[in-house]
Amino acid sequence: MAEKLRPLVAGNWKMNGLAASAAEFGKVVAGAAPLAGKADLMICPPATLIPAFAASARGSAVTVGGQDCHAKASGAHTGDLAAEMLADAGAVAVIVGHSERRADHGETDAQVRDKAQAAHRAGLTAIVCVGEQRSEREARETLAVIGRQLEGSLPDAATGANLVVAYEPVWAIGTGLTPTPADVGEVHAFIRQHLRQRYGAEGGRVRILYGGSVKPANAGELLTIADVNGALVGGASLKADDFLGIAAVYG
Ligand code: PGA
Repeated sequence: MAEKLRPLVAGNWKMNGLAASAAEFGKVVAGAAPLAGKADLMICPPATLIPAFAASARGSAVTVGGQDCHAKASGAHTGDLAAEMLADAGAVAVIVGHSERRADHGETDAQVRDKAQAAHRAGLTAIVCVGEQRSEREARETLAVIGRQLEGSLPDAATGANLVVAYEPVWAIGTGLTPTPADVGEVHAFIRQHLRQRYGAEGGRVRILYGGSVKPANAGELLTIADVNGALVGGASLKADDFLGIAAVYG
């Protein structure tokens, strides 16, 4: 039986946002009030904006997360940020293993797992991303690919509070394309089964987000599928109205 989990709608701003974006973030905070207790909202801005956003969201229904972290807590790693630094800046979570990090920076499943464990060490929730390429879906390898990524990328121990899994088909990110609801449901059920086998009852409490071209127009269809416990939103999270329009599915 699927447990009733409070949904999470997380916005991934990617490499977008300047100090002036505080106004758009403020609109998210103001618009989130009616959703308090019904859904958790999170924005993952560039790290430069985490302290200001976390301060302005304090006491609201919105939290702030990072987009990546280094596996180590400190050291000679020019340009990198430790999970501890994100926590210190006000983040409560961090995305790890996004397909753009896997593609642009060659991140492996083992590195993603180390980052997820670093997030836990720092007291952050790890949002671990997995997803197949278009060629893999066409070759009917989706579940095998997702199984491999879960096996290699997820931390050894986890709870419903400190782990979130995001299923993001690579070919659906930023393209306007989405899988059919049946395909989304199949992958989410498969991920849930993996989580239960691995973490027992806690695996039933880990939220599984769908990500890839989620918009207000398709949110109703995608976010009400069994075992879809929210969304990871890229492009549409940059506009407060669109982001809130997606979250409104849970209102
Ligand atoms: P998109 O991005 O919503 O723009 O497709 C999703 C993501 O990369 O998390």
